[in-house]
Amino acid sequence: MPQGPYSDKVMDHFMNPRNMGEIEDANAVGEVGNPACGDVMRLYMKIENGVIVDAKFKTFGCGAAIASSSMTTELIKGKTVDEALKLSNEAVAEALGGLPPAKQHCSVLAEDAVKAALEDYKKKQGA
Ligand code: FES
Repeated sequence: MPQGPYSDKVMDHFMNPRNMGEIEDANAVGEVGNPACGDVMRLYMKIENGVIVDAKFKTFGCGAAIASSSMTTELIKGKTVDEALKLSNEAVAEALGGLPPAKQHCSVLAEDAVKAALEDYKKKQGA
């Protein structure tokens, strides 16, 4: 099989995305887009006592963006809000076994979506 630019993990999360969909009673929603490629990522979270108990995503974007979204939901589940705020795009890319240079920004979209959702959460908490 020819070696493509993507790791097996990227392909796995692209072909079988985890936690795809919407959370009806989410108390944190973040949406970010990249104007250059036009991809859009929306992240839903259910946060209880400062802990992310559930996370789902809807992404209109490239395969690397979908894989990054999928991996991100797995990485943030069970984390506190403060821990999730520290999630970097490098950590997402690393968990995916790396992304090609031209696709690094897809993992940045995931980091930004987490931050946007947590900002929304804090706003709703009146903080
Ligand atoms: Fe822009 Fe992947 S090409 S998010």
